Amino acid sequence: MADSNAKMTQATPQEIIISILAGLFAPLLAIFLIVQLVLGIQAEHKPDLSAEAAEKATLKRIQPFGKLVALDANAPRVEKSGKEVYDAVCSSCHGSGALGAPKFESRGDWGGRIGQGYDTLLKHAIEGIRQMPPRGGDDTLSDLEMARAVVFMANAGGASFKEPPASTPPAAVPATAVAPPADGNAAAAKP
Ligand code: HEC
Repeated sequence: MADSNAKMTQATPQEIIISILAGLFAPLLAIFLIVQLVLGIQAEHKPDLSAEAAEKATLKRIQPFGKLVALDANAPRVEKSGKEVYDAVCSSCHGSGALGAPKFESRGDWGGRIGQGYDTLLKHAIEGIRQMPPRGGDDTLSDLEMARAVVFMANAGGASFKEPPASTPPAAVPATAVAPPADGNAAAAKP
């Protein structure tokens, strides 16, 4: 009995060494895992040093903040069709009937309005009426585009308006006004 008691309290040198090693092992393992974790995270964030990536980054850094776009002011404006205008602008309200707008293709909604006549509808569409904003809220729409959109919508609601003809490009200055008189110079040269 005495022997076994002594064994319980007095550890052999071997046991001491084992317990010291075991005690050190746990924190060492923890440190090792933390180091591995940090190295792993760093590896993921390694910068891409390829020439391609460098060029991309440079271009991004030196990109101009204002871009020049060459627009030809004399280029003929392409007027949108009624459907294009409707899809782009008018449908946001007239597609669903939002704000009480007459709904697209609803004869009930459009019947009474069509009765006012095309000119009145167009005037209201261009100038706005109650919740209907002038030109549907898009100032860039021309009168012709508005007219086409009104015809497109009204016809879908039961009207049979005719689409307005495409506007003829403003005739530059009449040729006769610019052309110098055939004998102009000759006349001036005469004494
Ligand atoms: C912000 C919503 C909104 C947009 C966008 C909009 N409308 Fe309207 N529109 C309305 C509302 C609301 C009415 C009903 C106004 C009323 O009679 O009180 C209306 C009515 C009309 C009418 C009938 C006017 C009348 O006299 O009865 C026409 C025509 C019309 N819109 C054309 C257009 C066209 C064309 C576009 C696109 C260029 C357009 N709307 C875009 C809300 C809109």
